[in-house]
Amino acid sequence: MKRTKNRWSDYYTRKAQKENYAARSVYKLAEIQKKYRIICKADRVLDLGCSPGSWLQYAAQLTGPGGRVTGIDLKPVKIQLPEHVTVIAGDIYDLQPKMAEIAGENVAVVLSDMAPATTGSKITDTARSFELCRTALSVAEQILVPGGRFVTKIFQGDDFKAFCDQVKKSYQRMVIFKPQSSRKGSREIFVIGLEKKPN
Ligand SMILES: C[S@@+](CC[C@H](N)C(=O)[O-])C[C@H]1O[C@@H](n2cnc3c(N)ncnc32)[C@H](O)[C@@H]1O
Repeated sequence: MKRTKNRWSDYYTRKAQKENYAARSVYKLAEIQKKYRIICKADRVLDLGCSPGSWLQYAAQLTGPGGRVTGIDLKPVKIQLPEHVTVIAGDIYDLQPKMAEIAGENVAVVLSDMAPATTGSKITDTARSFELCRTALSVAEQILVPGGRFVTKIFQGDDFKAFCDQVKKSYQRMVIFKPQSSRKGSREIFVIGLEKKPN
C-alpha cells in the first residue's frame, strides 16, 4: 500500500518538476479545467491558498496577459510569475472584508485549494477544512460575477453535505469531483459551482 502511494507521489512530483510547475497539485486543477472549462482567456481569477504557486502558474497561462490572477496565502510564493499575477500574503480570515478591493471588479473565477495544517484528528481537520471552504464560498458570494465559477477543495466529513447544499443554492450547477491525480486514500475532494446565480 505504502509503495503504491509513494509511486503515485513520485509520478506527479516528477512530472511537475519536469514541466516547471511549483507543485504537483497543478494536475488536479488541470483535470478540473479539462472537464469543466473553469478558466477562460482574459478572465480575472482569485486563487485562495496559492502557495507554492502551481495553480497561479496554470491559471496565468489560461487567462493570458489580458487576464489577471490574484493569489492569497499565509505563506510566501517564491517562484517567478508573469506580470499579470499578484500575490498577497495574509490570512483569508483577516483579508475577507477587503476582498473586493484586493481582487478588483469582474472576477470570473474563485479557486480555493486552501488546506488547514493537519493535526491527525479527523474531526478537527475536517472541521477546519469546512471553515476554510465556507469562507471561500462567502468570498465568492461577495466578488464573483453572475455566471462565475467556484472551485474548492474540501476534506469530506460531517459537514460535507451541508456545504454542497450551500453551493447548490448559489450556482446553477454543483458538481463533486475527485481528480485522478488526487491521492486515492485522501479525504480531499473538490466541490465546483458552475454559473453563479445573481445575488
Ligand atoms: C495545498 S496548498 C495550495 C497549493 C497551491 N494550490 C499550489 O498549487 O501551489 C494549501 C495552502 O493553503 C494555505 N492556507 C491555509 N489556511 C489559510 C488561510 N487561513 N489563509 C490563507 N491561506 C491559507 C496554506 O498556507 C497552503 O499554502
